[in-house]
Amino acid sequence: MSWTIQSYSTDVEKLLLEESLFFTGNGYIGVRGNLEENNLHPPNTIRGAYVNGFYDDVPISYGEKMYAFPETQQKSLNITDTQTMEIWLGEGEWREKFSLQEGKVISYVRSLYVDKGYTERNIQWQSLSGHEIIINIKRLASFTTKNLFVQCMTLKPISGDIPIQVVSKLDGNVHNFIDPTDPRVGHDGEKRLAITRMEHVDDANYIELQTSKSNLSVATLTDLSVDNSDVSYEYSKDDTSFTTTATFLLTETTKIEKRTFFADSIRYDHLANTLVNLKSELASTSFEKIKNEQQTYLLDFWSRADICIKGDRKLQKAIRFNLFHILQSTGQDGISNIAAKGLSGEGYEGHYFWDTEIYLLPIFIMTDPDVAKKLLLYRYSILSHAKERAIEMGHKQGALFPWRTISGTECSSFFPAGTAQYHISADIAHSYIQYYLATNDLKFMKRAGAEVLIETARLWIDAGHYYDNSFRIDAVTGPDEYTCIVNNNYYTNVMAKQNLQWAVKVCHLLQKSDETFWEAFKERLTITEKELISFKCAAESMYLPIDKDLYINPQDDTFLQKKKWDFTNVPKEHYPLLLHYHPLTIYRYQVCKQADTVLAHLLIEEEQSEKVMKNSFHYYEKITSHDSSLSSCVFSMMAARIGCLEKAYNYFIQSASLDLDNTQGNTKDGLHMANMGGTWMGIVVGFAGMRLKESGLHFRPQLPKQWEEYSFHLQYQNRILRFTVSKADFHIELLKGSPLSIYVWGKEVIVNKYNAISMS
Ligand code: BGC
Repeated sequence: MSWTIQSYSTDVEKLLLEESLFFTGNGYIGVRGNLEENNLHPPNTIRGAYVNGFYDDVPISYGEKMYAFPETQQKSLNITDTQTMEIWLGEGEWREKFSLQEGKVISYVRSLYVDKGYTERNIQWQSLSGHEIIINIKRLASFTTKNLFVQCMTLKPISGDIPIQVVSKLDGNVHNFIDPTDPRVGHDGEKRLAITRMEHVDDANYIELQTSKSNLSVATLTDLSVDNSDVSYEYSKDDTSFTTTATFLLTETTKIEKRTFFADSIRYDHLANTLVNLKSELASTSFEKIKNEQQTYLLDFWSRADICIKGDRKLQKAIRFNLFHILQSTGQDGISNIAAKGLSGEGYEGHYFWDTEIYLLPIFIMTDPDVAKKLLLYRYSILSHAKERAIEMGHKQGALFPWRTISGTECSSFFPAGTAQYHISADIAHSYIQYYLATNDLKFMKRAGAEVLIETARLWIDAGHYYDNSFRIDAVTGPDEYTCIVNNNYYTNVMAKQNLQWAVKVCHLLQKSDETFWEAFKERLTITEKELISFKCAAESMYLPIDKDLYINPQDDTFLQKKKWDFTNVPKEHYPLLLHYHPLTIYRYQVCKQADTVLAHLLIEEEQSEKVMKNSFHYYEKITSHDSSLSSCVFSMMAARIGCLEKAYNYFIQSASLDLDNTQGNTKDGLHMANMGGTWMGIVVGFAGMRLKESGLHFRPQLPKQWEEYSFHLQYQNRILRFTVSKADFHIELLKGSPLSIYVWGKEVIVNKYNAISMS
């Protein structure tokens, strides 16, 4: 049962939440878990379907627009609604529509099978006039045919024969959800998609929509089939939607299948042809077969990514739930990425943030490097925008990646907590470095990584300056969005330092391994020896603030001079603070929305002593509100690192069930992808203490006392390894590849086939 998430609730508020929790996606499309019977209306429902990376350009209106403020932003669009499949029972004036809110629900359960890759609703229901029926609806977004979303319904009569009508709709009259009171949700309610083509083709309904500004199209083709020889179909259409009505007498269990195919003009040239061909290619493939293929795909996924925890079933379920939704949201085509809410909802308008690099890429780097490569290639594909943005922002050179984006340009209209987060460029560089350390894939560094490292390093040279013999970076914002536009944010400086060091290293690697390539690369990017020296010097002289009295790293130059936030007198309902205080009020205090310096210590531990890391953890813990969902998991991992295992466990629990328990109160707007990634990291990086370093793979395994054992697989430089941490020992199995050295608590261990290291 730890592979199944279930809900028995028909409560309207819970159903809204479950639209995110039970969404169906495959990295290309995402369909919220809305009800087929379509009887709820906003704000009780956020009906939605999305194509990863499909957007419109939306003008940003400012009261006072300053130089280089972005004029437009991209917005992921809610596309054609295909989910409706109403079930009508009876005839004439006794005709009644199935709804969980009317009639009598005899039994109800909704399930998500993360091992099989589909969701299901099972309902036994009685209408007011006494018809009783069992309804089963399965839904899946196919991982093997990414364009396909299927709803497979079976109806079983309980109270004799029942006249039935299934009314299936395809609706092109769509717009996005808005919430003007929450800056994390869109507030542009304009209709951005217009119907450009509507056709009934080949017994299927086709709608093509075009965006108003970005000039992109998305197409949807859907058909309905009923496994009953006496069915009659009726097709109708109005200005914006198609309706297909299937009428039959339900005498025995009957299957009704609705297939919907999606395609968009970013990826395909001839949308209608593409979809008609896909439909016919799959015409003879049964739902059972599609379902089996889905399961095979997931078997492979879980063989690489699963984390097993013995001794805590609830947590086990939560971790698998999180990993499954990450998979469902991950763009794997090099032109899309992982939005902050994945493909589960509209929060943060479908934008890609640093969330991917710091919280999600580690999973793929260590379990499926091919997918990691695709995510990195997406960043490479927007490098030219990042270079243009650097120039626009007054730099002479370099790449400044956008804080939030879909197609590559900056979408943040609030620059203090947006564009000012320059660290995103170093975060991206960091993920290329991590990928290289895990794979040794120099070919990929030649193709993309080296260029990204050079261009991001150039940004730091231009953004920073020397003062008092050290290299400093002024007027930036670190990850903590409650402290903005500061000088020498520790996180930014230490990440920039790594970026600069690796820009030099990668050049040496290229030079050593392929002189011809290096010469051409050097010329193309106009890299000079002088420039490499400037990278090296800036890295060596990077100013990393340290407070000699507290013996911690101050978050920035003035952070410790501020007054501390008075947590004791802030009512509970005033969190998150960003919804209740003007930013300036917040900026005047020592109060952190999320891990900042603590995260820097997690990512780069070599720069500080154990004592500074410990002191910093305890200092920042007291002033962090964790208003960002990206926070608890980092505190969990660092608590484990400094030996506070109980604390690590408590933070981990908060992070693992954040969406399942809706602890941030906004899961209805979409799942918190970075936090979900943070739970995988919580175990592998937190409790097992994995670090990827130039010297190899390092571990500091620990076992929370609440568990009997946990285990996971990692891929490392063409090897597959399985790690198990139990009360007795830490054992490592080399499942594929040649022997290697790893480091456990700093001691070198040669892994041949099987090694067990005592935990005591
Ligand atoms: C966090 C950012 C994060 C964004 C998207 C914000 O609340 O402060 O760090 O990138 O959410 O998840």
